[in-house]
Amino acid sequence: MARVLITGGLGFIGSNLAQALVARGDQVTILDAMIEPMGFNLANIEEIRDSVRLLVGDIRNPDDCMEAVMDQDTIYNCAGQVSHIDSMTDPWTDIDINIRGNLTLLEACRKVNDRARIIYAGTRGQIGKVVRQPCDETHPDSPTDIYGVDKWAGEKYHLIYHTSHGMKTCSLRINNCYGPRHQMKHGKYGIMNYFVRLVFLDQPIKVFSPGTQLRDYNYVDDVVQAMLLANSGKADGEIFLLGSGQPISLADMAAAVVAAGKEFGFNARFEMVPWPVERKSIEVGDFFVSFEKFTRTFGWKPSTPLPEGLRKTFQFYQERRDKYIV
Ligand SMILES: NC(=O)c1ccc[n+]([C@@H]2O[C@H](COP(=O)([O-])OP(=O)(O)OC[C@H]3O[C@@H](n4cnc5c(N)ncnc54)[C@H](O)[C@@H]3O)[C@@H](O)[C@H]2O)c1
Repeated sequence: MARVLITGGLGFIGSNLAQALVARGDQVTILDAMIEPMGFNLANIEEIRDSVRLLVGDIRNPDDCMEAVMDQDTIYNCAGQVSHIDSMTDPWTDIDINIRGNLTLLEACRKVNDRARIIYAGTRGQIGKVVRQPCDETHPDSPTDIYGVDKWAGEKYHLIYHTSHGMKTCSLRINNCYGPRHQMKHGKYGIMNYFVRLVFLDQPIKVFSPGTQLRDYNYVDDVVQAMLLANSGKADGEIFLLGSGQPISLADMAAAVVAAGKEFGFNARFEMVPWPVERKSIEVGDFFVSFEKFTRTFGWKPSTPLPEGLRKTFQFYQERRDKYIV
């Protein structure tokens, strides 16, 4: 039975990971600051509430971090400010959480538990506009927003603690992730889940015209499987990209959401609208990745095709509508 800490474990990715770890018998601690309007939701852990230790605390607070990291075997560092847009209107909060917070967590590990393996939830946003497709780990990083820069710095800190302090750190650069337990109140984080919300509310999905930009979308269970595999010496000191291997245009993704919505009896529909200025300025265009390095190292491939992932997503929210879609 391993002892595992998940920072940001009440949020989307962290809580799905917690479900998987509890199912295999690990001792799970969650450290989450429950900051509005972020993705925390106590409903995300209601099935496992009695099996996890929940610490309401902040990765910016050294004492909270030291209490949480003590004696852990593995730390999944998922806490973060995750809105590209908010990072541009309120850069200081993003810097505070995604830079100072990550460094505070690493310092706590260095001081009281430098043997734990730390797996950082990095992002494709650290890369910015791509100069070659598919993008792999050798692609230069040139983030287009404050979130991307700060997440990049967080990743660098993790890797410096490996090279300088011999700690077991790595980064998984996650692509657009969707599925159950994502917050459904606003569209600042995951676009696909926001489209699902609009279908539930009988509102048209609005696609910024012409919606031809290609993206990878990973179902959350596939990302969780990758995170479990990364808890290995083969990941230490490394960066890995995760992706779907099936790039799809935004308009086709919206059409897939509409098709899934119709299967569940909704009057789902989408329409083209002009780009808002604040979105256009940080848009990166086509972005899809090669995850060959991760496959070569761990044998992982995503196993959930988009229509199946969407069906599971609709099913989840239909059963728990009152807890997610107010
Ligand atoms: N969802 C994606 O598609 C995606 C893609 C790439 C990377 N990521 C990364 O994965 C991680 C998790 O993302 P998510 O989608 O689950 O987001 P989320 O908003 O659902 O979860 C983040 C959680 O972190 C908590 N948190 C925020 N600041 C904190 C702090 N200072 N101290 C403690 N807890 C804090 C929030 O309360 C929330 O519960 C983030 O680091 C994000 O950058 C996510």
